[in-house]
Amino acid sequence: MIVEKNIEDTRRIVTEWHRKGFSIGLVPTMGYFHDGHLELMKRAADTADKVVVSLFVNPTQFGPSEDLAVYPKDFDGDCAKAREVGADLLFCPEPDMIYAPKHCTEVTVGDLTEGLCGADRPGHFTGVATIVSKLFNIVRPNHAFFGEKDFQQLTVIRQLVADLNFTVSIVGVPIVREPDGLAMSSRNAYLSRSEREAALVLFQALSRIKQEVLDSDGMRDSQDLLVKARELMETKPPCRVDYLEIVDEKDLSPVSTVKGKCRVLGAIRVNDRIRLIDNLALYMA
Ligand code: PAF
Repeated sequence: MIVEKNIEDTRRIVTEWHRKGFSIGLVPTMGYFHDGHLELMKRAADTADKVVVSLFVNPTQFGPSEDLAVYPKDFDGDCAKAREVGADLLFCPEPDMIYAPKHCTEVTVGDLTEGLCGADRPGHFTGVATIVSKLFNIVRPNHAFFGEKDFQQLTVIRQLVADLNFTVSIVGVPIVREPDGLAMSSRNAYLSRSEREAALVLFQALSRIKQEVLDSDGMRDSQDLLVKARELMETKPPCRVDYLEIVDEKDLSPVSTVKGKCRVLGAIRVNDRIRLIDNLALYMA
């Protein structure tokens, strides 16, 4: 696996791969790899001839009071894991290489970024859309792989690709969970033992909603389901609900009745320090 910090050298490598007719799969990440990241890389290796993993903790997608300064890092461990699952190139630029001092262009995706995580994290999706556009232009991948855990991010990126005529195909990869159901996340590393136990309530609340929908004829009242799920979440006081919404999967618009391809999305804060997200499809895949 080649480890490359430089944009121009990365361009040279991918241009040569394209010239030879290889397809390229890109897995954009912020590092501290867990099995969820490795699943994205494996899907990329199954799909494309060459796998590029980007590792960049993108400062512009963090708010001023968020965890940029303490975001977990393990560069050597990440290199070993990416190599093990068959990555061909790890692109790990420094912030000043990505954002030159006079950098002043941003990519903002409209409506889709206003609710859910966007309501609580102003500017977050502009940071994501900008870095992902830059990565697409640097690597020129044929396919790019994103986890369904950040379902709003995945939807925003699909919109970005359609609106800006990028030619990359976006592949959404199902959430990888711990044996008890907790969605894998680099931020789980912040949780103490008792916080981790409490944080499981998010998955439990989402699962209860899914079960109620599957047990019925699929025409359930959203508010009724959400109220009961919130009651469950209030039994774990270190966890505060940021949002819990049932939406239409294609445009993330809230639905009053659950029918068709709906998804429940939630975010919690654990002890006001750690923000976790999760979601479940409310239909049989
Ligand atoms: O999902 C992430 O890790 C980040 O938002 C991404 C897509 C790598 C952009 O920085």
